[in-house]
Amino acid sequence: MSNGMIEDFDVGSDWHVAAPYEFLAGLRRERPVFHSEHLGAYVLTRHADVRAAYGDPKRFSSEGSLTISRSLTRETRDKLGEHGSFLSSFVANVDPPDHTRLRRSVSKAFTPRAVSAMEQHFRQLNEDLLDRVAPKGEADFVSEIGHEPSIKLTARFIGVPEADEGFVQAHVKDWFQLFLSPQPPDRQLELADSFLTYLDYVDRLVASRAKEPRDDFTSLMTSLIGSELSHREVVELISTILLGGNDTVPNQLANSVLRLLREDAWPVPPPLIQNAVEECMRIDGASLGSFRYAATDISLHDVIIPGKSLVLLSTDSAAHDETVFPDPERFVIDRPNADAHMVFGYGIHFCVGAALGRLQLRTALDVLGRRLPGLRLADEPIVYRKSIVGRGLTALRVTW
Ligand code: HEM
Repeated sequence: MSNGMIEDFDVGSDWHVAAPYEFLAGLRRERPVFHSEHLGAYVLTRHADVRAAYGDPKRFSSEGSLTISRSLTRETRDKLGEHGSFLSSFVANVDPPDHTRLRRSVSKAFTPRAVSAMEQHFRQLNEDLLDRVAPKGEADFVSEIGHEPSIKLTARFIGVPEADEGFVQAHVKDWFQLFLSPQPPDRQLELADSFLTYLDYVDRLVASRAKEPRDDFTSLMTSLIGSELSHREVVELISTILLGGNDTVPNQLANSVLRLLREDAWPVPPPLIQNAVEECMRIDGASLGSFRYAATDISLHDVIIPGKSLVLLSTDSAAHDETVFPDPERFVIDRPNADAHMVFGYGIHFCVGAALGRLQLRTALDVLGRRLPGLRLADEPIVYRKSIVGRGLTALRVTW
């Protein structure tokens, strides 16, 4: 390949998440259907191809595409028992007609009205946090600022009592690692223990709402058990929405703050915030892409993707495609088509939490810009998490 240096993805190396763009540009130009030995997957990198694949769920199937549970060791699988295939009926992991039914149920909790009703609460959570943190003059943005408001909002949305938030947060992190990023065998067993404890907790939450419903997501989904949903589907939905709320939004926020500070674009004037959020997602997306399985042999750009192959739709690459976004490595705060990125996916699996995610990002940038207008980066190296599917920072030291 013309960039000469890098030949394949490498989840263990720093560039994989931090700076893959030269490599991805080479793939878009020369190998738009790339077989990655490292990922064990074919990779689509052009915007048009990624979009077409998302839009064609018959040929690009989601069934079983979300987890790496296939790669768990025998011992871990034994320990997990019937839960070894956790997420097998999660909405993002199934095709129609199951998907259509699950999606209809989960969407009931994300009406535009329900989402906009959360804005005031989220704003207040940010203000409260800053009342505590602002006097310090410095912080790690990731652990001290970025996560707390989203975690608290999601907990309230789901119906997790405040006293249990820490417990839930720790366990969500563990099961994310177990099912979505490769782990050594000993660590798998530890994580499996944590995961089973967590499942017990969610089970008890569902049982308590079945007895005494409240105004929360768990009660709404529990009320559909028997008619539209199974018990297991409800447990998986709650678990994954806790993850969606606890992790992706804070990751995207920290990526965005880092970008805005580096570009000298802090604080963002309120009229520009909406587009700035989209441009930050485009250029530093928290999600790198989605996996699919080829349902049949697929011929594309003179390559045959054999049926049953794993395929990565690289939204990270699509968001940097020069044929859609001129000068893609440049941050343009008012880029007219910034929202043509597919960081929330596209098509039938388009992120059901996208409006809520966007609302949180806009609100957080608004409150943070007003309360910490002098925010700047401390002089510390930037370290990204190692992940196949996500982009996030392990820490981000800031001062003001
Ligand atoms: C910036 C934050 C977020 C990003 C980058 C993100 C990204 C994504 C992506 C790429 C997909 C598509 C997966 C696929 O096609 O295989 C997706 C689906 C989904 N997301 Fe999000 N998400 C975010 C926030 C949220 C939030 C806040 C929630 C819930 C509170 C959520 C819940 C879901 C659910 C349930 C699905 C599955 C939808 C389906 O399969 O029909 N996400 N998300």
